[in-house]
Amino acid sequence: MVLLAFETSCDETSAAVVADGVVRSVVVSSQIRLHAEYGGVVPELATREHLRHLLPVARQTLEKAGVTIDTVTAVAATRGPGLPAALMSGYTAARAFAFVRGLPLLGIHHHEAHLYSPWITFDPPRRSDAEAGDRESGSPVASEAVLRADWESFEPNISLIVSGGHTLLVQVRGELDHRVLGGTLDDAAGECFDKTSKLLGLPYPGGPLLDRLAEEGRPEVFVFPRPMRNELNDDFSFSGLKTSVRTFLEKRPGLADDPQALRDVCAGVRAAIVDTLVTKTVRAARRLGLGVVTASGGVTCNRALRRELASACAREGLRLRLAAPGLCTDNAAMVGVLAERKLARGVMPDAPDLEVQPGWGLE
Ligand code: KG4
Ligand code: ZN
Repeated sequence: MVLLAFETSCDETSAAVVADGVVRSVVVSSQIRLHAEYGGVVPELATREHLRHLLPVARQTLEKAGVTIDTVTAVAATRGPGLPAALMSGYTAARAFAFVRGLPLLGIHHHEAHLYSPWITFDPPRRSDAEAGDRESGSPVASEAVLRADWESFEPNISLIVSGGHTLLVQVRGELDHRVLGGTLDDAAGECFDKTSKLLGLPYPGGPLLDRLAEEGRPEVFVFPRPMRNELNDDFSFSGLKTSVRTFLEKRPGLADDPQALRDVCAGVRAAIVDTLVTKTVRAARRLGLGVVTASGGVTCNRALRRELASACAREGLRLRLAAPGLCTDNAAMVGVLAERKLARGVMPDAPDLEVQPGWGLE
């Protein structure tokens, strides 16, 4: 199978070619700089950019993969959840292409794509996590690296999906068999990173920058609350943490202008978010008797989250699989890998009148 996949659910236009479990190429055109000016994603602008970049990104992906358009045998695109018109731009283009060529089209759930992304690995494995923390336009993967789906190693697991829009804890019982255990009751983890960064005067999206500043900060100087960390359920809540940072800063005007204090606040905020995520994920794995933990989504770029998950899992005797740094944020490689696996396992392609589903739940 030579599958062409698209991802346009939010502010990344991405295409990938996946063939027999190998990611032959993936290209991401990020709109971050454009939206930064407005302090958040502007849906109208996102759609315009997707429409503008989709075909050049697809062409570039095919070129990099060394395949021509007529060798493509299947098509996939994110069908939800996400911004309605952004989803439509990618899914409708994919559908039109599939229709003209008489190819199967499979719409993919965005979070399900994140959920299985930790099973896409570098071959041979890489030693360093040096790329973690940042995302850039272009190929999220160095051209000499081979990325492939590692379904042979698949094991039931507890999976943490942490992005700008969602925070979910999922029990993955088997391949393509999962149930949501819990999620955020208010803000997502990425949203909390972005909103607290904004309070600190950092540009959007603040998550990566806050992470970078926190590396030189002291997490014990300013300690922030860990909402719901000690509650014995699988839900999260991050809006209280954001409010507590706001109140903290209001009481200390000018604090964020002091570079070291800023770094310490960043470290304190990051520690609060990471501690909550790690504690609840590991606790769920233990409770359900699962030996493997996985994590994916944009916040999985976070250096402290990667480190803390690794040490907590080592302590508890759990194996950890993190999405590769270049595949944590939105990309079409994860869409293509999942779509190919589903088609190979007999999942029916989409009916021609199927529409995008902006509010699609994971179950
Ligand atoms: O998965 P993603 O690309 O898009 C959604 O589906 O939402 O995630 C984007 C989110 C943003 O909130 C961004 O601030 C956050 O991931 N993020 C980070 C880091 N890199 C990206 N948050 C904390 N630390 C990072 N290094
Ligand atoms: Zn995402």
